[in-house]
Amino acid sequence: MSIETNAPITTIATIGQHEGQTITLRGWLYNLRSSGKLLFPTFRDGSGTIQGIVPKAAVPEEVFDTLKNLTLESSVVVTGKVRADSRAPSGFELDVENVSVTQRIADDTPYPISLKEHGVDFLMEHRHLWLRTPRQSAILRVRATIMRAAAEYFDTNGFIRTDPPILTPNACEGTSELFEMDYFDNDKAYLTQSGQLYIEATALALGKVYSFGPTFRAEKSKTRRHLTEFWMIEPEVTYLDLDGLMNLAEGFLTHIVTRVLETHRADLKVIGKDVAKLEAVAAPGAFPRLSYDEAHQMLVDAHAKGLIENVHTYGDDFGSPDETYISNQFDRPVMVHRYPAEVKAFYMQPDPKDPTKALCVDVLAPEGYGEIIGGSQRVDSYDLLKSRIEQHNLPLAAFQWYLDLRKYGSVPHSGFGMGIERAVAWICGLEHVRETIPFARTLNRIYP
Ligand code: 4AD
Ligand code: MG
Repeated sequence: MSIETNAPITTIATIGQHEGQTITLRGWLYNLRSSGKLLFPTFRDGSGTIQGIVPKAAVPEEVFDTLKNLTLESSVVVTGKVRADSRAPSGFELDVENVSVTQRIADDTPYPISLKEHGVDFLMEHRHLWLRTPRQSAILRVRATIMRAAAEYFDTNGFIRTDPPILTPNACEGTSELFEMDYFDNDKAYLTQSGQLYIEATALALGKVYSFGPTFRAEKSKTRRHLTEFWMIEPEVTYLDLDGLMNLAEGFLTHIVTRVLETHRADLKVIGKDVAKLEAVAAPGAFPRLSYDEAHQMLVDAHAKGLIENVHTYGDDFGSPDETYISNQFDRPVMVHRYPAEVKAFYMQPDPKDPTKALCVDVLAPEGYGEIIGGSQRVDSYDLLKSRIEQHNLPLAAFQWYLDLRKYGSVPHSGFGMGIERAVAWICGLEHVRETIPFARTLNRIYP
């Protein structure tokens, strides 16, 4: 069956511009309900879903029969007239006039994902198809906006994007979490955990820089916050101290949330996110700032009142339940600064007021989402950095170039990294980071 029509081709997202007109959509059959002489096919086209109405009497018999017997996820080109309907999720319905099937899925090989509930393992095994469901598509659209808004914030504030290598000769964050590979003639290479060390070099060349790319961690963590491959955006700025870094993180996150609210209210509804929670973040006002000591005291008090089971030991990093409790006390991201230097990376500048503390910050997202940003002021003294590298048993030779940055015109400088998937999980309100990226890589999954 072919469609002979001059009806303009449009998308579901922009269908409102064609109210009362006959248009053509190219998509897939997402759902089909029927009640005798009336069919209600729902179509999706990647930009949204729309319900069609097909009264038997209103269309040629061939069109009715084709749709009636069409299998879910078959690809179709549909023509119909756009009608406003306030009850419809998209605000519009389609009075179907004609349909052309691009590919009909055979009856004996039905689409594996039905509209009933499936287990997560089954869905992850079929991720290449699961992506088509409206909720998953909506998440990917929001992800794209978060990535664009994140880059846009730096691009429009005088930062130069300088992308670091993915293949590196040594560790950045810690040696146990590296993916190792052979690199010619008995050399080893490692997939980068963070571009930070390299963008410290580009910052000293250019002033304000950022990097944005995939990063890798061979962590044996099986939590809802950990991926082995994730995307990180990292700014690095010369002559910036910890307070300035916290201001930067605040402006950056506010910009991202504002952009998402501007264009994704319908998507957030499909995903099931309460937008009031995001509006609170985007509203004018500062993000709360707590020192590690204050956050520790908050946990001690909560434990004394029987609000949390965990007893937080002073000096330890915060675990997930600790972060969840702290972030739940605020309706905006909370910045926890000045952790004990012992639990943080070797490159962090000690606090001159208390050298047992690092001039660092972790930004904890609201609603119990935990750390989305980690950053710090960097050690700028050659001697201190060298002794830190030695204390951490890192290979001095591999870090010679990094030490050079402290030998030739060293300046105070700071930066942070935000994991895109953690930000998407928070902004969309998702249970697990595996739904925030098209094809998640986790401890026990590398297929599809
Ligand atoms: O706190 P992290 O380890 O900091 C760094 O890598 C610094 N070098 C960044 C910098 O200062 N330029 O990681 C930064 C962020 C975390 O806050 C989190 O959002 C994300 O990266 N992240 C992960 N996301 C998903 N899966 C994992 N396994 C992650 N590990 C870190
Ligand atoms: Mg961290």
